[in-house]
Amino acid sequence: MALDVAVLQDKVSQELASIASLEDLKRVRTSVLGRKGLLAQALDQFKSLSPEEKRTVGREINQLKNGTEERLNQLEAGYLEEEKRRRERQSAVDITLPGKKPLTGRVHPITATFREIDRIFSSLGFAVAEGPDIETDYYNFEALNIPKDHPARDMQDTFYVAPGVVLRTHTSPVQIHVMEKQLPPVRVIAPGAVYRNDQDISHTPMFHQVEGLMVDRNVRFSDLKGILTVFVHEMFGADVPVRFRPSYFPFTEPSAEVDIGCVICKGSGCRVCKGTGWLEILGSGMVHPQVFRIVGYDPEEISGFAFGMGVERIAMIRYGIDDIKQFYNNDLRFLSQF
Ligand code: DAH
Repeated sequence: MALDVAVLQDKVSQELASIASLEDLKRVRTSVLGRKGLLAQALDQFKSLSPEEKRTVGREINQLKNGTEERLNQLEAGYLEEEKRRRERQSAVDITLPGKKPLTGRVHPITATFREIDRIFSSLGFAVAEGPDIETDYYNFEALNIPKDHPARDMQDTFYVAPGVVLRTHTSPVQIHVMEKQLPPVRVIAPGAVYRNDQDISHTPMFHQVEGLMVDRNVRFSDLKGILTVFVHEMFGADVPVRFRPSYFPFTEPSAEVDIGCVICKGSGCRVCKGTGWLEILGSGMVHPQVFRIVGYDPEEISGFAFGMGVERIAMIRYGIDDIKQFYNNDLRFLSQF
C-alpha cells in the first residue's frame, strides 16, 4: 500500500483544526503523535518503501511530526495562559463591590433599661448590691415580715427548689442581706432576676426587678418622694407627672405605690392605662420597724425607705411594647429596633 504523505498531512490538519480546548488538544496529541496515532501508523507502512522513497517520505513525515508538535505546544501555551488569566481574574479583589457590613450585636432592651436605672441611682449616690436567685424562705418572706400563713404570699407563688428553698419572688431579700452585712448609712440598689408562678400578656415566670434601699438617721417619707420623683423625671421625662398612692406591703409602713401620668395618652385615659390616665411603676414605703429589728438595726435610732420596680414594666412603658414575651422570643426583627 502506497504511503500518501499529502493525505496524511490533510488528516493531521483536520485534527489540528478540530481543537477548541485544552482537552481537545490532549486528545489530538494522542491521536496524531501517540503510540498508535496517525504518524505511528504511517511509519508501519514506511517499511515497505524503496530506499529512495524512504529518504523523501521520511523527511516529509519528520517535518510533519515536528510541525505538528510545535503547533500543539503553541496552542497549549495559549490555553494555559488563558486559564491562568481567568483564575487571576476570579481571585482578584473587586474594589467596586460594596463592603461587607460586620454584624454587630446590640444591647438588649432589658439590659439598656437596667443600665439607665443604674445610671440614675448612681448619680444619686446609690451603690449596687446583689443577692442570690435561689433564696431560703427566711430571706424571701420571713425576714421581710411575711410569716408562713400571711395572705401576701398568695400573690407571690413561686418555684420550690427544696423544702424551705425558693426561687426568689422579688429582689427585696437583698435588703436583708445588705443590712446583715453592714451598718447604716445604707444606700443601695439591687438589680436582678425574680421568679413567680405567673404567665400572661404582662407576666412571665422569670422577670427582673430593681430594689432600692436607703437607711440613715432621719430618712423621711419626703426623701422617698424626692428621690423617686427625680428617678421618674430622669427616666420618663421632666414633664411626666408623679403620684404617690397609699398601698400595703408587709415590709414597709407606710407604703405607697408610685404612678406616672400615662405616657401614651398623656393622662386623658386610654387602653394602656385602662382609662385611668395613670400607670403604676413601682412599690415603695418606709422600712417596717420589724424588718430593722430582724437585722439588728435599732428602729428608734434610724429610719429608711425602700422601693422595688419591675424592669420589664418600665421597659414596656419606655418603648411602647404591649407584650412582655417579646423580650424573650430572641427575634432579631424585634431586638434590632432598640
Ligand atoms: N417586693 C415588692 C414586689 O415584688 C415590691 C416592693 C414594694 C419593694 C415596696 C419594696 C417596697 O422595697 O418598699 O411586689
